[in-house]
Amino acid sequence: MQLKPMTDSQFLKYQDLIYRRLGILYKEEKRDMLLGKVSKHMRAMEIEGYDQFFQIIRGSKEDDQVWTDLVDDITIHTTNYFRERNHFDYISRNVETILKSNPRILQRAEVRGWSSACSTGEEAYTMAMVLKDSMGDRATPKVLATDVSKGSVAKAMKGEYRKDIRKDVDPLILQRYFTKAGEHYRVNQEIRRFITFRSFNLAEQFPFRDSFDIIFCRNVMIYFSPEMQQSLLNKLYRALTPGGLLFIGHSESLIGKVHRFQYIQPTVYMR
Ligand SMILES: C[S@@+](CC[C@H](N)C(=O)[O-])C[C@H]1O[C@@H](n2cnc3c(N)ncnc32)[C@H](O)[C@@H]1O
Repeated sequence: MQLKPMTDSQFLKYQDLIYRRLGILYKEEKRDMLLGKVSKHMRAMEIEGYDQFFQIIRGSKEDDQVWTDLVDDITIHTTNYFRERNHFDYISRNVETILKSNPRILQRAEVRGWSSACSTGEEAYTMAMVLKDSMGDRATPKVLATDVSKGSVAKAMKGEYRKDIRKDVDPLILQRYFTKAGEHYRVNQEIRRFITFRSFNLAEQFPFRDSFDIIFCRNVMIYFSPEMQQSLLNKLYRALTPGGLLFIGHSESLIGKVHRFQYIQPTVYMR
């Protein structure tokens, strides 16, 4: 179907609004993609003009359906179990160092992790499984999993995945931590109890009282402007305990950013 063209000034208004609310920079080359997504919502609401829809979006609150539906659509949710596996191998290999990185971990017998753009949950469940397997009884994983897309968080909470996760998950882990439910695999309660899911926008100030020992902020910074990336890095630094680890995506880098993280290896940093 032929989409109605958006004028330059309409595109700039949408671009600016999305940037201010989410930190996501829809560049000119993604204009058609944005047009397609916005048009889909306009059709559903039987709205014809981009300006009229813009007024509705601009006036919407964080929890309004019109805004949350659009956010679900304009964010990219690609993910999988054990994505960028070397991060999970790093945690398993360095578990002794992690346990000793901060006296609180052994005192409270608890490791605090955050999957900060968790999408449909695979990253958070993988983190909890790997922490449990590598720490045994010495510390319990306590994982916060957040994403700005409420639709993705709802799927994550459901914890049900198509059978093709078999290509990513080791058969032993599949057997231990999942139950077959018809055409799906469901994550067992043994792992679910370690995770709290919430929607959270990384563009906002962080509300956390306790700091984290491990933060995954992977494959989300690439969508942000350089200014938003810088501000996010500053917040992530403050949210980590000294000695805590930050993992970023393999196509992301801190080069050119001002930061106080210690470089450990590509995409792995320590506060
Ligand atoms: C490509 S997925 C990455 C998922 C996972 N971290 C991984 O690496 O497999 C990017 C996720 O970032 C989320 N996202 C985008 N902007 C965000 C924001 N401002 N705050 C929180 N999450 C955001 C999207 O909703 C999406 O689920």
